[in-house]
Amino acid sequence: MVTMELFSLTIFITISLFTIVIILYIFRTTNKTRMPPGSTGFPVIGETFQLISAYKTENPEPFIDTRVLKYGSVFTTHVFGERTVFSADAETNRFILQNEGRLFESSYPGSIANLVGKHSLLLMRGSLHRRMHSLTMSFANSTIIKDHLLVDIDRLVRLNLDSWNGRILLMEEAKKITFELTLKQLLSIDPCEWSENLRKEYMLVIEGFFCIPLPFFSFTYRRAIQARKRVTEALHLVLRERRVERERGVKKKDMLAALLDSDGGDVKFHDDEIVDFLVSLLVAGYDTTSTTMTLAVKFLTDTPSALAQLKEEHDTIRAKKGTTVALEWDDYKSMPFTQCVVNETLRLSNIISGVFRRAITDVKIKDYTIPKGSKVFTSLRAVHLGQHNFEHARVFHPWRWQKTSESMDFMPFGGGPRRCPGYELARVELSLFLHHFVTRFSWKPAEEDKLVFFPTTRTQKRYPIIVEQRNVV
Ligand code: HEM
Repeated sequence: MVTMELFSLTIFITISLFTIVIILYIFRTTNKTRMPPGSTGFPVIGETFQLISAYKTENPEPFIDTRVLKYGSVFTTHVFGERTVFSADAETNRFILQNEGRLFESSYPGSIANLVGKHSLLLMRGSLHRRMHSLTMSFANSTIIKDHLLVDIDRLVRLNLDSWNGRILLMEEAKKITFELTLKQLLSIDPCEWSENLRKEYMLVIEGFFCIPLPFFSFTYRRAIQARKRVTEALHLVLRERRVERERGVKKKDMLAALLDSDGGDVKFHDDEIVDFLVSLLVAGYDTTSTTMTLAVKFLTDTPSALAQLKEEHDTIRAKKGTTVALEWDDYKSMPFTQCVVNETLRLSNIISGVFRRAITDVKIKDYTIPKGSKVFTSLRAVHLGQHNFEHARVFHPWRWQKTSESMDFMPFGGGPRRCPGYELARVELSLFLHHFVTRFSWKPAEEDKLVFFPTTRTQKRYPIIVEQRNVV
């Protein structure tokens, strides 16, 4: 009798365990199939090395292309220490970016977050982010550019070009221009020894963005932290001087003034907050715009028919104005082909190849569920270079923008509540730079150079060219 009972109990336990295992298996597999398909590669490192080695070449596309072909335009991978949902789909990207704060939130690597500072716009959330984003937009909108910023953009671009002769590294020169422009727009400071020293510190800060954020292990990161300290000290000093000036009734029209003006409102900013905010604005506008300037020139050099058409547009404007007269808003508005070149450069080079987000709740996308806490990468690059989104997508063809000036698939400045507040400013800076560059110089590459995409988009040798004054203007 006892043996019988023992036997039944054993059978019961075995069946129960078997049922639990089956339920767990079904739960795990259904849960798995609800995540976008993909491969998470090797333990811990995932597919990070495949991604980095692809992006270090001139043609990183196969990394995405092969996965899109195998799994579809939304797939799962494992990069930089985390399982990541990768979207190469325009509609999904728009959905993710539009739902910032509701379903997703921005997510920067630790190194960038530490170096831009916790009060930077990039890291702000919720109502404070909305308020500060719109404050930034209001400082860089078309009316402000037209009435205040344009004159300095024109002046500072020319000033820089005055010293160009013979062999130059275009990327370095362009960086100098955009740093000086940003400093003028934020703080009303004209180029001087102080600003050049600050720029050098800044370059060290930016070099730390793509390091493991552990000072003990990385010399570059340690150096970046120290440089950040010097940058913030310098900006604190400027801020203190400006507060004193304001008390004496001196008014300036720049971003710092806008921040100090909003000081009297419902939120009062601490000096540390203002400085972090300025640090992040300098970061956001400096490298992006200068790299786009350089790559526009590279693409034009490689496409003589586009360069000829661009030159014609700008020579016509210059001929009407005479040699030394500054450009005005109406001139900027009469550069239709330049806008095609700017769009095409942004599309093809994708300075910001995509942005990271984190799901703050379970999110249903297409037939999948992205679990709460998952990292998501919206690849702007994959959409811009997707053959079904743009005809001959991997070729520089500015004329495509003559037919369609707008495209839902074209998002070089992101989208949703975090859309780049400097998008119009960047366009104006690029257009004015191209105007002065093509009307004043002819040039040729000094040596072979090529595009690479890791850690950021740039040319490997900073694009060395030989410039010569043109006689026409
Ligand atoms: C060609 C030049 C530029 C490109 C391609 C570019 C691209 C972008 C992109 C894609 C984002 C979205 C990031 C995200 O969604 O997380 C962004 C954000 C931002 N950009 Fe730009 N940008 C450029 C120039 C500028 C300039 C000149 C400024 C100066 C005002 C600027 C300021 C910012 C700021 C402050 C943010 C953060 C916005 C936020 O998180 O709310 N950018 N930019």
